[in-house]
Amino acid sequence: MTARQDDAATPAAPDVKASPDRLYGRHRGHPLRPRQQRLLDLTLPRLRLDPSVLADPARGFGRSPSELWLEVGFGGGEHSLAQHAAHPDVGYIASEVFENGMCSLLSRLVPDGQEGTAPVPDLLRLWDEDARALLRALPEQSIDRMFLMFPDPWPKARHAKRRFVHPATIQLVARVLKPGATWRVASDDPTYQAWVEEVMGAQDLFDTAPPATERPEGWPPTRYEAKALRAGRQPLYWVFTRR
Ligand SMILES: C[S@@+](CC[C@H](N)C(=O)[O-])C[C@H]1O[C@@H](n2cnc3c(N)ncnc32)[C@H](O)[C@@H]1O
Repeated sequence: MTARQDDAATPAAPDVKASPDRLYGRHRGHPLRPRQQRLLDLTLPRLRLDPSVLADPARGFGRSPSELWLEVGFGGGEHSLAQHAAHPDVGYIASEVFENGMCSLLSRLVPDGQEGTAPVPDLLRLWDEDARALLRALPEQSIDRMFLMFPDPWPKARHAKRRFVHPATIQLVARVLKPGATWRVASDDPTYQAWVEEVMGAQDLFDTAPPATERPEGWPPTRYEAKALRAGRQPLYWVFTRR
């Protein structure tokens, strides 16, 4: 079956409305400090994935990447930066809509006072809008690996349509992933964990396997994971493989 045929197939999914293209949650936290404002004004534009190259995203990097990986909702950026450091030939697209999270990642890349001048990585690019818009704009079968680490759980049933793992969104994910590409998902929220099992158990775009209960090797830790472990919650770690 081709990817396009797959796209047309609607998985026998839980009975929820299609995910609307609307973002929930915070975009902005505390007022930005001057350093944070400089990071957004001077550093982010040098790292932002150029929307004009989305039809051929490899062109958006400072040099030619071996593969393209995409992280949705990087939070403070620990996982993105660790993956980028561990895989220096991969083109890494890291997305986050929360400004303070974006500042947190940027602050680890450039020293204070050098926001507009310090060199920035060739193979890291940032997307500061809704990751679903990026998924729609990227070509079919263009991404080799994707990460969704501890997404906002939206535990109330009436908010299920806000969850990133969603029957509508997994079709966007499936469209951009190459056959055999993996999608890593982690969550510590029991409602979300059950939801992932339900949604992914009802689709035929990805091969599924039972989740790990220990963080697998090669999965750098994240801030939310650390919070979950401190609070005694049990994270689950899935790997879904695009058919
Ligand atoms: C619970 S936090 C987890 C952050 C990080 N992955 C971690 O494990 O520490 C989820 C993050 O996803 C971001 N987010 C939610 N929906 C998003 C979307 N559609 N596109 C990009 N980022 C999104 C939120 O702003 C938030 O920072």
